Amino acid sequence: MRLPLLVNADHPLPEGFEPALLAPALPGSEALLEPDCAAALLALVRAVGGEGSILAVSGYRPRCEQLALWEDTLKARGEDFTRKYVALPGCSEHETGLAVDLALDTGGKIDLIRPYFPYDGVCGEFRSRAAECGFIERYQSGKEAVTGIAAEPWHFRYVGAEHALAIVSRGLTLEEYVELLTTRRSL
Ligand code: DAL
Ligand code: ZN
Repeated sequence: MRLPLLVNADHPLPEGFEPALLAPALPGSEALLEPDCAAALLALVRAVGGEGSILAVSGYRPRCEQLALWEDTLKARGEDFTRKYVALPGCSEHETGLAVDLALDTGGKIDLIRPYFPYDGVCGEFRSRAAECGFIERYQSGKEAVTGIAAEPWHFRYVGAEHALAIVSRGLTLEEYVELLTTRRSL
């Protein structure tokens, strides 16, 4: 099985990386995702009855958009906040088309950097079934030193069901999982 793509400050994407194809993250959504990721997201949202209440806030972001987000956040919120919640341009999973930020539709304004995606209700149900559809909650509380990013309950990364179930059952970050597979070659 192929290793999941690891993207972080220590593993930037190659210069000029572009996903081949993109599809709407959810029907009617402006956010785009790699097609297998988009199909898995739709299946998961449907499975938990989240159509209409779970919104895809951000999916694929080209590097120029990640750079603009980094610079705008730096100006508005300062360096400490920006380093916690925005990956360096070239080092964001959003540039792969395999990551999505989700929000629960409350009818109010959506925070684009830190969308509200709670642990209960339909969002909790989404989370509990995410791995079977190939998603992991990528940035968990308590793992900030490993991921380099603050806890982000809204950011989900598609790695495929086999990897996702192995990651979640072991309580690992993607960094720890890739390290384990690379050094031990099997689980
Ligand atoms: N918010 C995540 C870390 C990103 O910018 O990719
Ligand atoms: Zn995100």
